[in-house]
Amino acid sequence: MNFKLVTQSPALTETACVVLPVLQDGSLTPAGEGVDKATESLIHQIIERGDFKAKLGKTFLIPFAPGAEAQRILLVGMGEQDKLTESKFRKACQAAYSHLAELSLHDALLTLADTPLKGRDSSWKLRLMAEVAETSFYRFTEFKSKPAVEDFPEELAFYWPDNQQSTEGEKALTVGQAIGQGKNLARTLGNRPGNVCTPIHLAEVAQELAAKDSTFTTSILDEEQMAALGMNSLLSVGKGSAQPPRLIVVEYKGNKDSDAAPHLLLGKGITFDTGGISLKPGEGMDEMKFDMCGAASVLGVLEVVRQIKPKLNLVFMIAAAENMPSGNASKPGDIYTTMSGKTVEVLNTDAEGRLVLCDALTYAERFKPASVVDIATLTGACIIALGHNISALLSNNDELAAALLKAGTNANDPAWQLPLAEEFHEQLDSNFADMQNIGGRPAGTITAAAFLSRFAENYPWAHLDIAGTAWHSGKQKGATGRPVGLLVNYLLDIEAANA
Ligand code: BES
Ligand code: MN
Ligand code: ZN
Repeated sequence: MNFKLVTQSPALTETACVVLPVLQDGSLTPAGEGVDKATESLIHQIIERGDFKAKLGKTFLIPFAPGAEAQRILLVGMGEQDKLTESKFRKACQAAYSHLAELSLHDALLTLADTPLKGRDSSWKLRLMAEVAETSFYRFTEFKSKPAVEDFPEELAFYWPDNQQSTEGEKALTVGQAIGQGKNLARTLGNRPGNVCTPIHLAEVAQELAAKDSTFTTSILDEEQMAALGMNSLLSVGKGSAQPPRLIVVEYKGNKDSDAAPHLLLGKGITFDTGGISLKPGEGMDEMKFDMCGAASVLGVLEVVRQIKPKLNLVFMIAAAENMPSGNASKPGDIYTTMSGKTVEVLNTDAEGRLVLCDALTYAERFKPASVVDIATLTGACIIALGHNISALLSNNDELAAALLKAGTNANDPAWQLPLAEEFHEQLDSNFADMQNIGGRPAGTITAAAFLSRFAENYPWAHLDIAGTAWHSGKQKGATGRPVGLLVNYLLDIEAANA
């Protein structure tokens, strides 16, 4: 889909459909007033008759607009002005796009950036509108033999009221569109079934993406190489599977100083989590194909970076394995020596995410990273604590934690920090090894992070538990592409601070 910026008044702009925001008190934006005037107050008449009440996320199509340059007008309810928030703004955008998706239009003109939203400028709104446009017209049809035929607009124009600052507007569109496409890539990888999306598949996707640009270099570690490095914990998770594990590493050098310390993103890439010998119950187990959504978000960010080329050095890392039961699988009580030298007693083979991540965190040290953020669908307890809208954040560094929380707020991709206090470590004491891989039911998200923190002592580190936010269940089952938005905002903030 092509996006373009339009600075001239929407009343004077030819389009198949102009999309106008309406507040619940019936007021229009200046752009909307302009179109209203051209149509002899058609819009105000409709609102006054009570045909459109402008409730948040409701839409109303006016199929003819005599007098206006637009062939149609789509009204979008924004709800009450003083209650408008970032997530409500997102909802209104989604409603507009899903109505447009049902019409067969060549193009449309969006003017929602004209709506006042507390604390957010036009460029923020435009960026979000571009992101949401990409994600709203996304369909996952790879496995449908006859995908539904839909007729989406080929071109979306975005009204930008300030023609002095149009480069800022262009930038917002480019970044927003890249984020949307990065999220969609993450969704596609998450949505692919476990028999297709294997560790090898993730490695191939990483390699193909990275091969599109010479600023990337890729290395894929196989079992032999990992064994030589002593990654017994990571390898233990893949032992029960016919699909071999991989450690995927892509380096990106965008900083003029190619030796500048990189920021590292590490994704949990369990391409299917049966639980292993500590087998999960059957119901809903299909959703464990999403257990690689951390990895998918890392590749989503990689795609955004490929498009917008931030002046940063980055390392993208994925610990990929399939967790299966078999005669070769790990058993409860098995003990492994990790790459760090620390020993782990595996009391539950279903707590496998931390087992692949710990060796990857040790491997990360060789890049002398400025920061490491891991992203993982790590604990069911995270869903109990924070539900499905907020990711959990835990960190050994307050500055890094604050940066990620802020990025989450600004991306409308929120996270909430949980405490990583010393006391939680006791729950990991083992009678037989340096630690065990589970800490019991209390504070399961925190003890999982406490486990990881033991392998992340040598750099600023943060952990995002996305168990509740990475996918939707039920009728809307599918990967969300989160937290690509948070991570891209985080990286762009670092780039801006360096400049
Ligand atoms: N991938 C799961 C966590 C998960 C479960 C995410 C459900 C989203 C929905 C993880 O590998 C796991 O199984 N964790 C266990 C840990 C426990 C054995 C300590 C869990 O949360 O039950
Ligand atoms: Mn598990
Ligand atoms: Zn898992």
